[in-house]
Amino acid sequence: MPHATTPPLTPNTIRLGVNIDHVATLRNARGGAYPDPVALAKLAIQAGADGITAHLREDRRHIRDADMHRLRAEISAPLNMEMAATPEMHAIALTLAPHACCLVPEKREELTTEGGLNVADHLNTLTPFVQSLLQKGIRVSLFIDPCPAHVFAAAKTGAPVVELHTGAYVEAFYHAHEKESFKKLKRLQEAAKQAHDLGLEVHAGHGLTFDTVGAVARIPEMREFNIGHFLISHALTDGLPTTIRTMKRCITEGQSSHDS
Ligand code: PXP
Repeated sequence: MPHATTPPLTPNTIRLGVNIDHVATLRNARGGAYPDPVALAKLAIQAGADGITAHLREDRRHIRDADMHRLRAEISAPLNMEMAATPEMHAIALTLAPHACCLVPEKREELTTEGGLNVADHLNTLTPFVQSLLQKGIRVSLFIDPCPAHVFAAAKTGAPVVELHTGAYVEAFYHAHEKESFKKLKRLQEAAKQAHDLGLEVHAGHGLTFDTVGAVARIPEMREFNIGHFLISHALTDGLPTTIRTMKRCITEGQSSHDS
């Protein structure tokens, strides 16, 4: 399959990257061949996903190497490989040459990616890592908390994209006082503006749902969301195509509400 390129954006468009990790979680629960993450990725693309995201974790708890190779060979939309900035993943990414790599922190004991990369303290190691992927023609994004020091450091690495961690906002939306969730949303708004002013493309993701995506989509600098757990979970009720179409509608409605 030739390299899929990032779909062009008309002003105000936000791409939806569908993260299919948890299709693999379900498959691995019984050790068989189904559900197949590649088949579900194809279904997601048919339903309107603008890209497919998969996280090859060090412990291979969900997506496996063979899944990445099949995704790279078989899907027509851009493939975004989430990975830790380790020598092992670096070698795999250079061989696989996905459309994009999103560098994330990784701890073995965590349930999911719990926070953003500490770019500010690891600028010396991350910069050559980012540069070598860019030289291979891979778009690189850094998954960071919406924090000014990390946004600034991310720009210094030469990465063209940051993905802002939305987990704290989502957590506050569901479990804290409204004031707290406004505060977290404000951090995302400020980080998005700072990143955009530094010339970075702004993406976001983690924990996003139908209820929470609209307010983040209203941030004018947003260009891409990567969403997984909620979409795959909700697909049990509504099916994946309907779930993806509903999420795209929530994004569009959220965006247009900032113009009114
Ligand atoms: N973006 C990044 C960088 C992630 O690590 C994850 C989780 O794998 C997501 C987005 C998607 O998060 P969720 O599965 O909670 O939608």
